Amino acid sequence: MAKQPLAPTHKPVTLRGDYSLAGADYTVPQAWESYTAAEHAVWRTLYTRQIDLIERYAAPEFVAGAHALNASAERIPRMDETNQVLEQATGWRVVAVPGLIPEEQFFAHLAARRFPVTRWIRRVDELDYLSEPDIFHDFFGHVPLLTNPMFARFMQAYGEAGPKAIAAGALPMLARLYWYMVEFGLIATPAGLRVYGSGILSSQGETVYSIEDPRPHRIAFDLERVMRTAYLIDDFQRTYFVIDSFEQLFRAGYDTDFAPIYSRYGATAPIAAGVVLPTDSLRSAAQSPT
Ligand SMILES: [Fe+2]
Repeated sequence: MAKQPLAPTHKPVTLRGDYSLAGADYTVPQAWESYTAAEHAVWRTLYTRQIDLIERYAAPEFVAGAHALNASAERIPRMDETNQVLEQATGWRVVAVPGLIPEEQFFAHLAARRFPVTRWIRRVDELDYLSEPDIFHDFFGHVPLLTNPMFARFMQAYGEAGPKAIAAGALPMLARLYWYMVEFGLIATPAGLRVYGSGILSSQGETVYSIEDPRPHRIAFDLERVMRTAYLIDDFQRTYFVIDSFEQLFRAGYDTDFAPIYSRYGATAPIAAGVVLPTDSLRSAAQSPT
């Protein structure tokens, strides 16, 4: 049996996934036939309300990916069907896992162009918040952009960077890159700021807040700044970082040697979430979606 990983939350949580069937790479069968009608109904509720919001708030590349996956509003997706689309688009696959998995195995999956997707779905009384990712977050939030070649290459580069960060004792700095740029990233488009981060796009409230609310700071992407910034786990973010393009993100992740950044800042305290530095370039949220 695989070792159960720790959850990245402030309060201790008991992971609900069944890890007893997980292999050394933590994958399990999706067992799609075992989902109940009530579980499909939870998917329907979440999918229906979020698919309309993404048309207004998500990056065009995310919207295109969500449509290309051809996921049904009526039922939880079948990962084998998803893989037929993904493999053709970018060579990626999704694999079912019981829930959060240890960093080493997570990085290894990404480096091999496999995205781990939790197989279970939240309960109906948890539509707006749960403390660990489920299939709605992992699939709806993450998989659409894996159809985008540039973003997909960034994700692979991120996986490849993992073992080096572990060896350097710099995992928290690399994890901030994932948090801010994969889970909570914004992108500038000719029509205004749009969302591509999975943590935002799988949350109805934060999708609107991240673009419309005047309170959070929206700071132009800077790799070192991101890697030095602490983040909030159980609340909406106070700072979002804004990329200009997925190529910019890929280039920063792929072309940069992180080792000097780790040695320069690894021993210093992170910049608090919500702080604006004199060197930051702020992006306006004034141009909201129509
Ligand atoms: Fe996620």
